[in-house]
Amino acid sequence: MYRMTDINVSIKHLSAEDVGEAYNIEKAGYPADEAAALEMLNLRQREAPELFLGRYHNGRLIGYACGTRSNSKTYTSECLRLNVVGGSTACIHSVCFRVEERGKGYGLDLMKRYIANIKNSLHDIDKITLVCKEDVIPFYKKAGFSLDGPSCVTLGQDKWFECHLDIQRSPTK
Ligand SMILES: CC(C)(COP(=O)(O)OP(=O)(O)OC[C@H]1O[C@@H](n2cnc3c(N)ncnc32)[C@H](O)[C@@H]1OP(=O)(O)O)[C@@H](O)C(=O)NCCC(=O)NCCS
Repeated sequence: MYRMTDINVSIKHLSAEDVGEAYNIEKAGYPADEAAALEMLNLRQREAPELFLGRYHNGRLIGYACGTRSNSKTYTSECLRLNVVGGSTACIHSVCFRVEERGKGYGLDLMKRYIANIKNSLHDIDKITLVCKEDVIPFYKKAGFSLDGPSCVTLGQDKWFECHLDIQRSPTK
């Protein structure tokens, strides 16, 4: 058992080598008909590495958030499968932590860093969209997202809700 002070925490973009571990976390975190396939996670890391951020404890991946770019202002089924190079909307597809690491504030911390990374480093992105299940809406609201309402996206058995966050930047002088 680690004390928090013993843990070396790092937040960084995933390398291709770490996608397999992200896939193991994804499989454990979502029902089988919702979890992304390994090839899909590989595509996201390969095509939009700037949108694949992980939290590591002592070098071990414990959770991640990933997405792709689109030019649509709403979250569509296409953005789940595609990355549009230079797209101005970041579509988050997955935020997932190891079961034993949940409820410790790490997920919210990662979301805040994910948003800050877009705001500060990805200046061609002006909006973040995602879909989530009803019970997770409070989590995304805490991260700053607004609820738009039910989504037309179908995936697995449950209903999905769309949320968005507009990236606010101060005008440059
Ligand atoms: C959703 C998930 C990423 C949240 O990460 P986490 O590290 O457990 O969340 P945190 O501990 O940072 O929680 C931050 C806040 O959000 C709330 N929250 C977290 N998960 C929630 C959930 N599923 N429903 C409602 N509120 C939730 C917490 O209560 C907490 O509120 P507080 O600050 O008032 O105490 C994590 O539970 C997970 O991996 N779930 C499985 C995959 C999944 O469903 N991802 C969402 C995809 S749409």
